[in-house]
Amino acid sequence: MGDSTNLCGVVLAGGWGTRLMPLTTSTNKHLLPVYDEPMICKSVATLARMGIKEIMVVLGGYSGNSFFALLGDGHRYGLDIRYAYQEQAGGIAEALRLTKGFVGSRNVAVILGDNVFQQSMKKYADEFVKDELHECYLFLKPVPDPESFGIAWIDSDGRIVNMQEKPAVSDSNLAITGLYLYTPLVFDMIEEILSTTGYSNRGELEITDINRLFMQKDLAKGCNFDSHWADCGTIDALLETSVLMKNWDLGPWLPVKEE
Ligand code: DAU
Repeated sequence: MGDSTNLCGVVLAGGWGTRLMPLTTSTNKHLLPVYDEPMICKSVATLARMGIKEIMVVLGGYSGNSFFALLGDGHRYGLDIRYAYQEQAGGIAEALRLTKGFVGSRNVAVILGDNVFQQSMKKYADEFVKDELHECYLFLKPVPDPESFGIAWIDSDGRIVNMQEKPAVSDSNLAITGLYLYTPLVFDMIEEILSTTGYSNRGELEITDINRLFMQKDLAKGCNFDSHWADCGTIDALLETSVLMKNWDLGPWLPVKEE
């Protein structure tokens, strides 16, 4: 499955950020500050820390110019950044589908633009590109509110045996976080879900349906990881993560490189 130079990145920053209103009435969610940087810098930095240089950002809404002003073509950060535009908030898998031409035959690390991973996830990327058995890595973390996340059930060997998006009642608390490693097979999986399950009742092409398909074909691996993780999609999480970030005292995650 190639080496890590064959890994590109996708940041998904579409959607409307309705849970953060009124903060998101006039500003895109991914441009809100997480302590010292706009939120999207944290997810771009997570990909950069994995050794990824070529990144596609999927945008939605009306803030294109602000993203371009912040990230540009990426050269200020030593990156090559391109953009795609998702017209409706049709779901994470729909946004990912737009990047098919960019990803091509490469492996891809996909991160949600509101997810913050405290430490480098590079070791998992290095393992993934050498892994001959799995075509999808998912990163699992216990949460107190499983009804707010995609949730995985694992067996005694740690294998994922079921998953569900935002279960109303759940006897598992293992959230599937917003970082996904895929081979290009993910785009076939998306087409398969489109022609079978289709969009969910909430009008989204669900990433959990795609991941479940990998699981059913025995191609998905669940990874537990030590680092702190946050989904900054709610006001409380945004505040809490900003305070944590101040205490971590790591400085800017996406510093401008010298011209
Ligand atoms: O943070 C992890 C969770 O993220 C996972 O556990 C869930 O399985 C996954 O569905 C997602 O749940 P959220 O409810 O947090 O998703 P949200 O609608 O907030 O979207 C998260 C990011 O995905 C958002 O910041 C931008 C991107 N996105 C979302 C939608 C709906 C898009 O690019 N396009 C979209 O249409």
